[in-house]
Amino acid sequence: MNPGFFVRNVPIYGDLILSPMAGFSDIPFRLICWEFGMAMSYTEVISMDGVLWKNKKTFKLLDFLPIERPVTFQILGNDEDKIVEACRILEQLGPDIIDVNMGCSVSDIAGKGAGAGLLKDPVKIGRIFKKLTKTLRVPVTGKIRLGWDDKSRNYLEVARILEDNGASLIAVHGRTRSQFFYGKADWNAIAEVRQAVKIPVIGNGDVRCVADIERIRKHTGCDGVMIGRGAIGHPWIFQHKDRDQVAPAEKIELIRRHLSLMLEHYGRDIGVILFRKHATKYIMGMPDATELRPHLVTCNSPDEIIDRIVSHFDRIQKQEAA
Ligand SMILES: Cc1cc2nc3c(=O)[nH]c(=O)nc-3n(C[C@H](O)[C@H](O)[C@H](O)COP(=O)(O)O)c2cc1C
Repeated sequence: MNPGFFVRNVPIYGDLILSPMAGFSDIPFRLICWEFGMAMSYTEVISMDGVLWKNKKTFKLLDFLPIERPVTFQILGNDEDKIVEACRILEQLGPDIIDVNMGCSVSDIAGKGAGAGLLKDPVKIGRIFKKLTKTLRVPVTGKIRLGWDDKSRNYLEVARILEDNGASLIAVHGRTRSQFFYGKADWNAIAEVRQAVKIPVIGNGDVRCVADIERIRKHTGCDGVMIGRGAIGHPWIFQHKDRDQVAPAEKIELIRRHLSLMLEHYGRDIGVILFRKHATKYIMGMPDATELRPHLVTCNSPDEIIDRIVSHFDRIQKQEAA
């Protein structure tokens, strides 16, 4: 199999990528997505200060499995020197790529000039990338939004600055910061970025079903497709399968496996609590899912989660057969 594209010298086999998603794209979920065909891994975002202060929780988020490679660490920060210092520490942990988050919309972060807040200062982005790409041995990439708000959509300027200062790839979430996660992602803008730079461009935003994968590829010409919310509760999208193409037995089998990976990774009590939000997404689109959801979010044991889901599936199948 030939690589779909390269991130500088790192070959990427395939072109479907799970979005970095804090609270979701952890080792258990990435492993499942990888088994289903994900081409490369992004860890959940970590902060520059967390690295510099040697915060244990920050470093835990950077754990990855050797089979996940190529693996990208994603960092948030607003200070040029500190972000470089933090990335030098990160590089020693062995990622294949380091990505700078320029899309985080959370007020506490973006309001302080990190994440999407960086988009307000493209010149600073240039300085950060120049320093990072001169200092680090691994390729450095950026994940951007289209701008701060509708009046300041500066994605083309930012994309050119990134390329001119050594970035090896740009992932574009087709929304502005002020859109947060609402409204339609603008795939035309992603297509413009694709035209404006020579480095690989990953298209992101509103890929919810298998047909969307081909649509965004055709519409934007992007080298890779990044899938966020469309993969939560539906990692089969990496196998080019839609929700209605997954048999109930297959769904239950994966729910069991995902839960057991969570228990292994986080321990029993935290694993159950953290799995609840995945469980509510696995049942999305099923008949009477809204009835089951409140029960799932209060389950306290692995068996309870599985029993609730299995009996719900059984009841639906009996109803359908009657
Ligand atoms: C719960 C959640 C957590 C997210 N965390 C991150 C993150 O850590 N880093 C990042 O670059 N983007 C993050 N995002 C944004 C996604 O990576 C993606 O850009 C966005 O959801 C749009 O893609 P989608 O329409 O396929 O969901 C997050 C999104 C969600 C919903």
